[in-house]
Amino acid sequence: MTIERFVRESRTFKASHVLPPDTNNHNTLFGGRLMAHIDDVAAISAMKHARGPVVTASTDSVDFLHPIRVDNEVSLEAFVTWTHQTSMEVFVKVVAEDLLSGKRTVCATSFLTFVAIGPDGRPTPVPKVVAETQEEIFLHDGAAERAEARQQRRKRSKHLADLLGTRRPWEP
Ligand SMILES: CC(C)(COP(=O)(O)OP(=O)(O)OC[C@H]1O[C@@H](n2cnc3c(N)ncnc32)[C@H](O)[C@@H]1OP(=O)(O)O)[C@@H](O)C(=O)NCCC(=O)NCCS
Repeated sequence: MTIERFVRESRTFKASHVLPPDTNNHNTLFGGRLMAHIDDVAAISAMKHARGPVVTASTDSVDFLHPIRVDNEVSLEAFVTWTHQTSMEVFVKVVAEDLLSGKRTVCATSFLTFVAIGPDGRPTPVPKVVAETQEEIFLHDGAAERAEARQQRRKRSKHLADLLGTRRPWEP
């Protein structure tokens, strides 16, 4: 019997207050800090779906659409949009809220792929995901095409890694 889980079962939220140690010299959130938040919330979501350990296989581009300012709330929402055999696509939406005015802005979105890992350390099958809402169905419907693009990118990355090798510039 195939196990199925609803998208809603993996929905995960994370909010933080942006404080000076998180910001750059423009008083906006460091890009690297935001990427760490994205990976963290997406991994939690993938684990809720798989109910087991996962690793990040890839992160599609993160588009920083608007800066997130010091003293804003930054909140992230993640959920599994699509599954294949052992991999899961997770969508993350990042919203900044000006805590004084209440104005909210979508500042970034990202798709990540996680792979479930079994006790032998190898990829292991995940339950199939079932989309229910209009938003979930919209994201689910576009996922196979994104997955195909990722496979092509993975091939190119492997080729580049083979081409470049590990030798350092100063080594003979
Ligand atoms: C991701 C990883 C487990 C894949 O293992 P592998 O032996 O190459 O396995 P496979 O080629 O059989 O791929 C397994 C699944 O991962 C998917 N996958 C692998 N690399 C991928 C990538 N770059 N992007 C998207 N999906 C990927 C495959 O499509 C496959 O999905 P499916 O089973 O649903 O069809 C392995 O490459 C790895 O451990 N990478 C390092 C992960 C890591 O350290 N992450 C950061 C810290 S968590």
